[in-house]
Amino acid sequence: MSRLLVKDVRIVDADRELVGDILIGESTIQAVGAGLSVPPGVPVLLGEGRMALPAFVDLHAHFRDPGFPEKEDLLSGARAAAHGGFTCVSLMPNTDPACDSPEVARYILEEARRQGLVEVYPVGAITRGLKGEELADMEGLAPYVWAFSDDGHGVDDHELMLAACRKAAALGRVVYPHPEFSGVSDPELSQELMVARDLWLCRRTGCRLHLAHLSTPGGLELVALAKGQGLPITCEVTPHHLTLSKEEACYTVNPPLPDRRAQKALVQGLREGIVDVIATDHAPHTPEDKARGAPGISGIELAFPILFTRLVKPGLIPLSRLSRGLSLEPARILGLNKGLIKEGLDGDIVLVEDEPFTADEDFFLSKSSNTPLLGAELRGRVWATVHKGEVIYLAGKVKGRDFDDHRQVI
Ligand code: NCD
Repeated sequence: MSRLLVKDVRIVDADRELVGDILIGESTIQAVGAGLSVPPGVPVLLGEGRMALPAFVDLHAHFRDPGFPEKEDLLSGARAAAHGGFTCVSLMPNTDPACDSPEVARYILEEARRQGLVEVYPVGAITRGLKGEELADMEGLAPYVWAFSDDGHGVDDHELMLAACRKAAALGRVVYPHPEFSGVSDPELSQELMVARDLWLCRRTGCRLHLAHLSTPGGLELVALAKGQGLPITCEVTPHHLTLSKEEACYTVNPPLPDRRAQKALVQGLREGIVDVIATDHAPHTPEDKARGAPGISGIELAFPILFTRLVKPGLIPLSRLSRGLSLEPARILGLNKGLIKEGLDGDIVLVEDEPFTADEDFFLSKSSNTPLLGAELRGRVWATVHKGEVIYLAGKVKGRDFDDHRQVI
């Protein structure tokens, strides 16, 4: 049984580029090629003038639920994700209560399942209440989470981090550090020192490590050295650190925006494959909290447009490399059958347009629009997002609120 046909579209993924059609079945891609015939009764999305990529997978987002529904909740976050072309999101544990117990992880998973919009993969806390004092219930969390992080804080205590790495290795889960020592005033050095320590702990314990939001050339240099030794590590960079420098934008975010020199090194790291993943670090905040200095950028809806406009259009990064960082590598890290437009893989695709648009307040489905890109003219707007053959976002409409069955809107 076929569920959807995308016709006459420029198809780009990490491995290839062609113009053709994509036929999706009940859940997976059935065929990719030119001139596929339209099976009777199957809805068609017209791809002409558009690009189809594998849908994006975000390893690093904050949906603030439970605890801060005025900033975001699981539903508004999922709607924003679908609008941004993401079908899978991994959620950080700095909620209230923190995701440091099986109960909170189960709440997140059950709520996401009830909504049925995007796939959600919680990250469990390393320490109880993210306080950096004692380990969270890592055994209890393990069945529900793919990784452990104290995102928002680095774990300063070496013995505690060593114990966490040992436990995560025994449980077969990834350690996902927020690499920043609290007692070091130079932010670059603070990141580099913690990256070095955590890489060493990885070497000592054999745990798998995924380093959050690297923003310094030194951090990447250390990662390159560790990869050269065959350590089981991956790392991510955010769209804002890749495209905005502190000379250009003055905006509070953790880690701070890089200077132009560092930003160039991050782009080069992505081009050369030292950077595995582009993760949004979607960090919604109310205007009041931003005015009080809360760090963070609401980034899940503009991730692709800003990367496409600032890196792909000027020829700094090929679209296939972007697709690797936004889809293939994060899907591989999560162990998903996704990330390429290929027969047998999940029918998760995103259709984007190369037309200019303005990212004004009305653009956002997130509850928060805290971004230095507000009002910017960008290209690469998402037109449709498809999850396992089901359209979950199309031209401003989101499944669940605006339609139930995609045949209603095509
Ligand atoms: C994050 C948030 O708001 O949750 N903010 C950010 O600037 N990345 C937490 C953090 O990493 O400080």
